[in-house]
Amino acid sequence: MLDAGGQYCHLISRKVRDLGVYAEVRASETPAAELASARGIVISGGPSSVYDPDSPTVDPAIFTLGKPVLGICYGQQLMAHLLGGRVRKGDKGEYGLATLQLEDAADPMFAGLAGAQQVWMSHRDVVDRVPEGFRIAGRTDTCRIAAIADPARKFFAVQFHLEVVHTARGREYLANFVFAVCGCRPDWDPRHRVPLLEQEIRESAGDRNVFFFVSGGVDSSVAFTLCTRALGAARVRGVYVDTGLMREGETDFVRRMPNLSVEHADRQFLGALAGVTDPERKRHIIGEEFVCVQERIIESRRLLDEHWILGQGTIYPDTIESGGTAKAALIKTHHNRVAGIQRLIDSGRIVEPLKSFYKDEVREVGRELGLSPELLDRHPFPGPGLAIRCLCAERDEPVRATADGLILPVHSVGVQGDSRSYAPVLAIDAIDHVRATELINRLREVNRVVAAVQTAATVESMSVRAATLTPERIARLRRADAVVRRLTHASGYDHAIWQFPVILIPLGTSTAPDSVVLRPVHSVDGMTAQSVVMPPDLLVNMCREVSALEGIAGVFYDLTHKPPGTIEWE
Ligand code: XMP
Repeated sequence: MLDAGGQYCHLISRKVRDLGVYAEVRASETPAAELASARGIVISGGPSSVYDPDSPTVDPAIFTLGKPVLGICYGQQLMAHLLGGRVRKGDKGEYGLATLQLEDAADPMFAGLAGAQQVWMSHRDVVDRVPEGFRIAGRTDTCRIAAIADPARKFFAVQFHLEVVHTARGREYLANFVFAVCGCRPDWDPRHRVPLLEQEIRESAGDRNVFFFVSGGVDSSVAFTLCTRALGAARVRGVYVDTGLMREGETDFVRRMPNLSVEHADRQFLGALAGVTDPERKRHIIGEEFVCVQERIIESRRLLDEHWILGQGTIYPDTIESGGTAKAALIKTHHNRVAGIQRLIDSGRIVEPLKSFYKDEVREVGRELGLSPELLDRHPFPGPGLAIRCLCAERDEPVRATADGLILPVHSVGVQGDSRSYAPVLAIDAIDHVRATELINRLREVNRVVAAVQTAATVESMSVRAATLTPERIARLRRADAVVRRLTHASGYDHAIWQFPVILIPLGTSTAPDSVVLRPVHSVDGMTAQSVVMPPDLLVNMCREVSALEGIAGVFYDLTHKPPGTIEWE
């Protein structure tokens, strides 16, 4: 997959792997010579116009390798542009569902797919004239050239996104390309890789031992277990840092893993965070404290001598630029800044057995290793822990009424355009996503909309009070989070969603100073997310139990999609 900057590039690669065929994402400009071993090349979509200065391109020599090439969206435009066709601005954009009319054709790419069908489009530029040798294979009402084919050279392209679920027959298109056009065989199965991975680990480690900083998340746990299987328990050590910012039962959960020691650093973290209210400062302090703790551990356990190498649970999206989230990357820089770790990495003393796998494949490997579904199906949890879900406030401030709802003077982080926003929240009286989206697009003052679902007093009468990260407030959030997790798990709802952050905000009354925000979201990769409506009976039970907790004045429901709101509030 040549990545032309499209947000779905990883999705294409994953869909190909789901067909049992190994796929890798590379930068779009990768020299053709480096692609010589590929059986086929896909050029992804991207946000640019082929005529923009500095827009992504590909090495034109890829068209002389004799390999099949498939262009998707921007990939179609780029192929047309580079091979002698023409691209122009469309009269109208075409975003969302469209009906494709695919011509009847015998070529292997489009075989068996002719007729009218639902596809998903997201473009404004269009191909206006096809390059020589190509024919038009499909159209929509708005897009005259929605699929093109040059079967003799095995070049094909589509304007729609065949990798998203909304393209009804997307998987069949991709299967035609990888099997019928490229001649691949379905021989990629992460589960069958386990013996191979163990062999690789043994080779990388030689006669040295491996140590890990384990987070309790899926990736580091699977990598740790793989190394333990490959080298034997005596040669693998894991350390888990208890920051005091973890969820209820977390340290006990992690402790169940063999050969793992717990480093208690809660006093150190909470001490450093005392009195701090600014979200960026909190993150920074947590990163710095991690560095200190890791250095201390490396030093005191003599992990830098030649007998040790570092194990990490890095997965495929982390290894390439376009993957992961900016904030996850930030936390990693903090980890990597530990001089000792950097030295190990620089001298190649590192083993990352999962670096070619996607998350779902890591889970497959984990299942093959016999790890429990309880571990493998865990939702992501941010490294800085409850600290970034426990909002603070500099000063007291009342709730303010406006014609559109109530402004809650707590500030949360959002992403608007490409930049970060930090703004107050608007509360409305119903779980109404349509209204919330309309409000958030219209009002400049807020970046998030919540619904008040259950409050002990009227929201107007509540106020924000100056608050910091105290052990008391973290404990309060931990209790609320535990209730939500228990009920979500018992109802099976955790399988229906990507993540369910629970946030504590310093909004309340004189007797109950805080409120809780529920934030269940759907997502594929955390880069974008939808706020979802949860089952009403589950919500009722959750509100009843959370409201009964000490210090909680109300329960709110976050209605904000990402963008414009991030999944986390800080
Ligand atoms: P946002 O809030 O940016 O989050 O929409 C996207 C995904 O990333 C997770 N996240 C983090 N994970 N360290 C992590 O390991 C972090 O600092 C961090 N910040 C956000 C978040 O939980 C969501 O899944």
